[in-house]
Amino acid sequence: MSADMSPIDKAKYAAARRAAEFVEDGMRVGLGTGSTAAWLVRRLGERVRDDGLKIHGVPTSTRTADLAREVGIEVITLEEARWLDLTIDGADEFDAELNLIKGGGGALLQEKIVASASDRMIVIADAAKAVETLGMFPLPVEVIRFGWTTTQKLIGNMLGGMDVAGREMSLRMEGEQPYITDEGNHILDLHLGRIGNAPQLAMALNQIAGVVENGLFIDICDLVVIGHIDGRVELC
Ligand code: 5RP
Repeated sequence: MSADMSPIDKAKYAAARRAAEFVEDGMRVGLGTGSTAAWLVRRLGERVRDDGLKIHGVPTSTRTADLAREVGIEVITLEEARWLDLTIDGADEFDAELNLIKGGGGALLQEKIVASASDRMIVIADAAKAVETLGMFPLPVEVIRFGWTTTQKLIGNMLGGMDVAGREMSLRMEGEQPYITDEGNHILDLHLGRIGNAPQLAMALNQIAGVVENGLFIDICDLVVIGHIDGRVELC
């Protein structure tokens, strides 16, 4: 940890280091994406190098795959692993039932597939990600590029019947161009403000033609490791 880290980074770092203790020799581990997950990957790399920890990592994005290889973690595909002992990943929001919004980093599709193929999913997050009701963070929805404006319209129609506070949507951009995910899709960010019934919305979104996956993780997370800016860690 460097002295010039921001308070939020200190919290993320503390959560990631604590969660790394759940990783044991011989495990197949899903490696999340984002700044908190990057701390975890670096810590696991240290354990591989210094303690001789032997693991196989299944990354959830090309970014994470590059970092994992760089720090010496043996990377395999999900097809090779088939099933994972544990996935550790960040989140954009989590509630008291451990439901999540994920995908702020654009990797929600692989993240959900990998987490769903794991015996256990642990989320690592700074305390600011805890919410009473999901929805202040824009909900990412991965959509096929073909006809994405039609998909957006269909999502808008569906939201009319949902218990949400707002219905604005934006196409995620990267500079001047629409953002393209690792799977070659676009992301629509839904500015809902408050999601009254997250399981219902998650199901309704995935029934719309053109939607590949949404960033609501319902009943997938088993434990949240919360990092605080003073370095304290809580398990929830
Ligand atoms: C990437 C994600 C990230 O886990 C989420 O955006 C949190 O990121 P960070 O750890 O940088 O705050 O879902 O798709």
